[in-house]
Amino acid sequence: MGETREILAPTTGLNGGVRSASKHDSGPKHVTGEAVYIDDIVEPYGTLHLAPGAATIAHGRITRLDLSKVRSAPGVVCVLTADDIPGANDVSPAHTHDEPVLPDGIVQFYGQPVFCVAAETREQARAATKLAEIEYEELPAILSIDDAMAQKSYVAEPHVMKRGDSASALASAPHRHAARMVIGGQDHFYLEGHISFAIPQEDGDVFIHCSTQHPSEVQHNIANVLGRPANAVTVEVRRMGGGFGGKETQSMQWAALAAIVAVKTGRPAKMRLDRDDDMIMTGKRHDFVIDYDIGFDDDGRICGADIQFAANCGFSADLSSAIADRAMFHTDNAYYLGDVEIRSYRCKTNLVSNTAFRGFGGPQGMVAIERIIDEIALTLGLDPLDVRIANYYGGEGRNITPYYMTVEDSVLPELTRDLLKSSDYRARRAEIEAFNAQSPVIKRGIAITPVKFGISFTTTFLNQAGALVHVYQDGSVHLNHGGTEMGQGLFIKVAQVVAEEFQIDLDNIKITATNTGKVPNTSATAASSGADMNGMAARNAARTIKERLVAFASNHYGVDATAIHFLPGRVRVGDKADISFAELVKMAYLGRVSLSATGYYATPKIHYDRETASGRPFYYFAYGMACSEVMIDTLTGENRVTRVDILHDVGQSLNPAIDRGQVEGGFIQGMGWLTTEELWWDDSGRIRTHAPSTYKIPACSDRPDDFRLELWSSGRNVEKTIHRSKAVGEPPLMLAISVHRAIAHAVASVAGHKIVPALDTPATPEAVLKAVARLAATSAVAVANSASATGTAGNDKVPAASGAGMVGVGAPQAGV
Ligand code: MTE
Ligand code: HPA
Repeated sequence: MGETREILAPTTGLNGGVRSASKHDSGPKHVTGEAVYIDDIVEPYGTLHLAPGAATIAHGRITRLDLSKVRSAPGVVCVLTADDIPGANDVSPAHTHDEPVLPDGIVQFYGQPVFCVAAETREQARAATKLAEIEYEELPAILSIDDAMAQKSYVAEPHVMKRGDSASALASAPHRHAARMVIGGQDHFYLEGHISFAIPQEDGDVFIHCSTQHPSEVQHNIANVLGRPANAVTVEVRRMGGGFGGKETQSMQWAALAAIVAVKTGRPAKMRLDRDDDMIMTGKRHDFVIDYDIGFDDDGRICGADIQFAANCGFSADLSSAIADRAMFHTDNAYYLGDVEIRSYRCKTNLVSNTAFRGFGGPQGMVAIERIIDEIALTLGLDPLDVRIANYYGGEGRNITPYYMTVEDSVLPELTRDLLKSSDYRARRAEIEAFNAQSPVIKRGIAITPVKFGISFTTTFLNQAGALVHVYQDGSVHLNHGGTEMGQGLFIKVAQVVAEEFQIDLDNIKITATNTGKVPNTSATAASSGADMNGMAARNAARTIKERLVAFASNHYGVDATAIHFLPGRVRVGDKADISFAELVKMAYLGRVSLSATGYYATPKIHYDRETASGRPFYYFAYGMACSEVMIDTLTGENRVTRVDILHDVGQSLNPAIDRGQVEGGFIQGMGWLTTEELWWDDSGRIRTHAPSTYKIPACSDRPDDFRLELWSSGRNVEKTIHRSKAVGEPPLMLAISVHRAIAHAVASVAGHKIVPALDTPATPEAVLKAVARLAATSAVAVANSASATGTAGNDKVPAASGAGMVGVGAPQAGV
């Protein structure tokens, strides 16, 4: 800890330059309630409140839509259906035209908004939605990945990545293991749900306060929905109360409805989704079914792999193609896979349309390969960490990914060395196994897993950003850029970059709301690239102004430009002057120098050819490792994380306080996904886990008692990123895979680590209990088998594991 702090301490003597652990600019306001979220904005007189009316079947044709009672309900001012959309009835983000604002005849999932009510109060609007009379002709509904696969129901074409001849490699492999893994989805559970507040302007224009990660896309799509040019719509985002990917595309529908009402009625219109509606009507992390067949040698090295992903995309494409692609890009996590074929199917179902979620498909790809590694280790009787190390990228011919990108920047050998030492993994694993041998009910488990996460949007053109910097006459600075703030600390990091550039204190910089009227055509704040890209764009803007100031001072004082230095709080102009930044700025203004500039940045080096599934989609990789220890109760399935050691590489941190928060938050969010957060739909396609009463995110009390988190002190980005930092938003989520693997380790102890526990995700107490019971039963049957010369207690009596069969790998031992 001490070492990390020392190395990352501020280097410039500035109050708040880069590397300083400045607190989140809104931190105090978050905790005092002074931070203004959209629902806190003072409502202008006449504001209308909106509520959506939902479908009650998963798939069908609307045969009767009688909204007369809705229209005449108290307080109702207008009711929208598909017929009321002035422009295109389309909020699909990727030009797939498969996502209507309101459906025109066909309902595609249970809970889909069919109409929208605008009333004087929110309560009146919500009450009126209940009065609709809707009749349907039901159509067959596809509600599972298996059904979609059987019917070849896809939202986009399947995609394949291939290197070498996996079939031959598998056929000739010394060992082979095939199984299926079922991976659950995840609700974003941002504290602030979806909200849009549209205020009508002159000439039919509209200004929208929107809780979105992608203001430019909201602007363009809403203009399209209104049948107006993009310049008629302005979108502003001061902050979100969390986005986590859930507001990358899915804000559009709510912004569209608010904008239509505002333009139609001439009154401000606010759409704030109720929590249950938010969970019912908006997409989640994709659930996946993964089938794999792996060949490996006696050391556990993978020599051949055939991996098939099927992702549940829901009723429309949304970002599913890019998400399913990223799962493929992360199938390998940190490992060289030999001859490999990866196939990916993007399943269309009659469920809500799934969307971006921290990691963007990467976590689903990585969780499977980490289970595979454990299965190899159990099969061979090796420590899984040794199998991981044996498969790390590196060495001659073993550093090319399945998409033909060379891994040039791996720090995993060093991270592993350091984490092994600080976590004392080997000794603790031996101690845990000794504990388990004498503890019949409580079992403990431990696992180390690495993270290698590709940084850049895999859709190459999205890797661009813009910024706008004004310097006022008093030397204060107005900063704006295309990135949005959702709690991740982007605004403070970019402000630190500008403070560093001008060598002024951070409190001279006003951080301002993202606004499509200031910086246009921006990308979503996503792919963890916010600080990388907006930091560079803002630095470029600041540099432009700085160059003008230098040219002015050089001319004014007759000093060579190279002798002009921006020092903390002052500017030295050769031996002629030593003045404050504000003094120089004032002089430059009087000398008629422009003190405002835009900045732009496009990430270099990246390219990807989808046809050949090859290229360099990522500028660099972010790395980290976690060692998690857990305890399970084999009688109830309850589990608890007792200790976590994390070593995470953020390069040279822009702000170690923010980065630590991101690593901790990401880890806990990943832990929730993998252990407690279970989404459940009934047979009619209706989600039944749509409130905190039935959907359990981690609570404060679930934070591991012993949580040892270090930013890796040797971290440095080999690429020329902003101040050599690394993206931190998403990668730490996948550190939590170590928790899942530690639980599997504890479960495996029930059968003496001789049988692979087919533990899917989430490993809820119910799932753990089932896995324990299956292991105990398999183990008992195997004992009976080996005791019986005739084998009467045959394998058919071994209970089948749900989803993925268990693989007996050796002599049985007693269960619980
Ligand atoms: N941290 C907080 N507090 N709230 C969020 O919504 N979103 C995550 C991550 N960290 C999120 C967060 C996601 S999904 C991403 S992609 C990144 O932040 C986006 O911001 P960045 O690119 O600035 O890291
Ligand atoms: N990552 C995250 N978000 C995205 C991406 C990506 O690669 N592409 C489009 N949105």
